[in-house]
Amino acid sequence: MSKQVVAKRHTPRSLALLDAPVVSLTAYTAPMAKLMDPHCDLLLVGDSLGMVVYGMDSTLAVTTEIMIAHGQAVVRGSQKACVAIDLPFGSYQKSPQQAFETAAEVMARTGAGCVKLEGGIEMAETIQFLTQRGIPVIGHIGLKPQAVHAHGGFRMLGRGTEAEQIMADAKAVADAGAFAVVIESTLEPVARAITEALPIITIGIGASPACGGQVLVGEDMLGLFTDFTPRFVKRFGNLAAEVDRAVADYAAAVRSRQFPGPEQCVGLVKKD
Ligand code: KIV
Repeated sequence: MSKQVVAKRHTPRSLALLDAPVVSLTAYTAPMAKLMDPHCDLLLVGDSLGMVVYGMDSTLAVTTEIMIAHGQAVVRGSQKACVAIDLPFGSYQKSPQQAFETAAEVMARTGAGCVKLEGGIEMAETIQFLTQRGIPVIGHIGLKPQAVHAHGGFRMLGRGTEAEQIMADAKAVADAGAFAVVIESTLEPVARAITEALPIITIGIGASPACGGQVLVGEDMLGLFTDFTPRFVKRFGNLAAEVDRAVADYAAAVRSRQFPGPEQCVGLVKKD
């Protein structure tokens, strides 16, 4: 009898026990999840997929069905990383009950390990409602892309009274039972102070190297999504250039009838 060795997936609990920063990237598809999984502790099916995959100009029109379809793909494509799925705009803000119904459906239909939702003090009751019912939650404070219009655009937060507000949001999210919180586009000293003050994992994106982990949009980091690059993104690859080269080579090969060649054909009869 052959014994199949199945990699053990990270859970919210095992992430908290890591002795190095949590490595996280967004993933939206099975092939990308498969490539990222060996290196990442946490794969986030972010609603940023609305912009990155669907070409929307914000995340606001992303639906629960879209998140579930991509969540299923990422769970199928990965074995080791904990998978977190964003609750999309309008699917959880109405009431804790609405949030529970959405989160339960997302978890049940995808097999993800947790959900993420945006908001601080105003979402504390909802986070508590979910966590008390067995749904692990990651909060998201600082810049909240679903509130981009209220923020006045994608910008860095944390100056003046904003710093106190973000700290209060962080504490509310942790007190409500979230096991981690994403801190986005927030001045470094503010994100550092939050990390020092909270007992939960802080995951920075445009925040601080002191955070308990880092996340980036995979396509940004790979240099594949070049429409909009926030200052905090570092490109670790230039895949857009590589895709351009490969597609240009393919187009030239088709136009010159170099492709398909004899190796790609079956039963090709050579004519002299
Ligand atoms: O939607 C998303 O991809 C996110 C990350 C940027 C943290 O929330």
